[in-house]
Amino acid sequence: MSQSPKNPARYTITAALPYTNGPLHIGHLAGVYVPADIYTRYLRLTGKDVVFVCGSDEHGVAIPMKAKKEGVSPKELIDKYHGIIKKSFQEFGITFDNYSRTSAAVHHKTASDFFVKMYEQDDFLEETTAQLYDEEAQQFLADRFVTGTCPVCGNEEAYGDQCENCGSSLNATDLINPKSTISGAVPSMRETKHWFLPLDKYENFLKEWILEGHKQDWKPNVYGQCKSWIDDGLKPRAVTRDLDWGIPVPVKNAEGKVLYVWFDAPIGYISSTKEWAEREGKNWEPYWKSQDTKLLHFIGKDNIVFHCIIFPCMLKAHGEFVLPENVPANEFLNLEGNKLSTSKNWAVWLHEYLEEFPDMQDVLRYTLTANAPETKDNDFTWKDFQARNNNELVAIFGNFINRVVVLTNKYYNGVVQEPIDFTESDNETLSDLHKYPERISSSLERYRFREAGQEVMNLARLGNKYLADEEPWKVIKEDEQRVKTIMYVAQQIAAGLAILSEPFLPFTAAKLRQMLNLSSDTKWTDVQSKEQLLLAGHQIGAAQLLFRKIEDEEIQKQLDKLAATKKDNESENRTLMPQKETISFEDFTKMDMRVGTILEAEKMPKTKKLMVLKVDTGLDTRTIVSGIAESFTADEIIGKKVTVLVNLAPRPLRGVDSEGMILMTENKEGKLVFLNPDEDQVGNGETIS
Ligand code: MF3
Ligand code: ZN
Repeated sequence: MSQSPKNPARYTITAALPYTNGPLHIGHLAGVYVPADIYTRYLRLTGKDVVFVCGSDEHGVAIPMKAKKEGVSPKELIDKYHGIIKKSFQEFGITFDNYSRTSAAVHHKTASDFFVKMYEQDDFLEETTAQLYDEEAQQFLADRFVTGTCPVCGNEEAYGDQCENCGSSLNATDLINPKSTISGAVPSMRETKHWFLPLDKYENFLKEWILEGHKQDWKPNVYGQCKSWIDDGLKPRAVTRDLDWGIPVPVKNAEGKVLYVWFDAPIGYISSTKEWAEREGKNWEPYWKSQDTKLLHFIGKDNIVFHCIIFPCMLKAHGEFVLPENVPANEFLNLEGNKLSTSKNWAVWLHEYLEEFPDMQDVLRYTLTANAPETKDNDFTWKDFQARNNNELVAIFGNFINRVVVLTNKYYNGVVQEPIDFTESDNETLSDLHKYPERISSSLERYRFREAGQEVMNLARLGNKYLADEEPWKVIKEDEQRVKTIMYVAQQIAAGLAILSEPFLPFTAAKLRQMLNLSSDTKWTDVQSKEQLLLAGHQIGAAQLLFRKIEDEEIQKQLDKLAATKKDNESENRTLMPQKETISFEDFTKMDMRVGTILEAEKMPKTKKLMVLKVDTGLDTRTIVSGIAESFTADEIIGKKVTVLVNLAPRPLRGVDSEGMILMTENKEGKLVFLNPDEDQVGNGETIS
């Protein structure tokens, strides 16, 4: 068990390695990279020893598929997106100490050595089992190569590794009615050998480490997911695959097999650290092996199981590495009410954003932080983006700085004056200023980035209020001496903002530092000390605009663009499911469908989609579990007439027996719609034929 270092000697910060099968959008920034960057910049400003690593995840199973679609080789595809992604990170000021890629030689070696060590320690189960096989494509099917019905929630589009509907982790062979995503064929079964990580053997370790050890300090969304995984019982998980894209399994008798992408990718954090150390002439090992290192993984919620359960078990088994101290995972960001989607082009792409709003990276960083999906999914809207910019960055932050710099130049040719007498309000304002570093730190240390960002804005508010109360532009006419002190106080707040805003608004902070001519080694804690930041006699520079107003037309243009995307998708969505196999009339008559009425509805705890319904079928009142909770609230559907398949064999869903199925379809927006008789006179129990 690792002890939690209270005052770690160093920090290793990782951000999820993005798949190189598409460019980055705002969801990536909001969920992972902006918070990770804020945290790292903050640590650096407080003088901490920190390494911040990331890189491209190039062995994802979607990569060869996407390459095929684009008519290029997988290598061409990853090179293209690796370049685009790396550039976006640089443009948005994400300050990785190293951005690597999993196709790098150092990574292949690190991941292979990791596997070999575990293999030699007998940490794997080696088993030959029957797996799904596509006879047409001559390929084993796992993960994204196969879809089928989720045995837990009944979602018909679950993948071979996970059901995105209910979040269950699956093995491909768990799927009901599996279908190959390569050829559409129904797979056969073939024997093949794989190496499995026996997660069940780590149950006690995980219980002690997470359930007891991190109940207090991990975010409830992260802790809750871990708990339900552990409570549901962990099963051995294959860490190898029969594929030709990936890192070859580095042991004998493993031809044609590669490491599972989720085995190799997190090791990428270690490889990236090695690459950095090599370049900088440092030793990578303390960053991964010393007990006084604090390791943090920044990720999105779909990666929780891999970073909290599987990778830690690998680290633990390997034996030499520290475990993560925390995994501050975020929920998802939506865009204008709909899920961000690369394939549906429902996204604000980072490279496109910069074409529309050049040099406005900080506005996006700020907006995404203010609306970060920290505790629940959250929505990005262009109107909110505009409001945050115009009402906060321009009207509060920018306005305050502009007043200070303009007046200092106007009254004193830019030279800070000796203050004369501090009034009570001056002293209060200065002592308030000195409290901000501590306040922002405390939010950041608890991974509350929204709150921290708002505190920065509150400091600008303090400055604005002080100037509005003191009115130096009026006082200058009667009492010139007094204005020297007023401006002095305001100048200290401006300097405080230049330092404290840096993690959040790095481009703005750099401009502001330059404008104020603030020494580059002024640190976070300097804002706290009694010694002021800008002393009498200090010369500041000329005023420059930090932010500009965003006009309604600019926002309308973005909204129009999204509306066009929506339209495109709707016409594309007309590609309907192909007709299924012919059935006999007899098959049809086997189905007993009836009209019923929903009497009660209740969301099933700890699931996203499931609702437990009591339905009057005319024959009886029965319980039906239905995956509709994302489309309806309980209140909306009580009393609704529906069509029910009543003679479907009952099956347990999350411990509740479901005795039938409600017939549904989906509208263009993906919302579920009941197939209900549009006729009040039809009574419960009437058959449908
Ligand atoms: N590529 C994965 C994703 O985008 C994340 C990989 S994180 C790592 O969901 F730990 F595996 F590197
Ligand atoms: Zn499911």
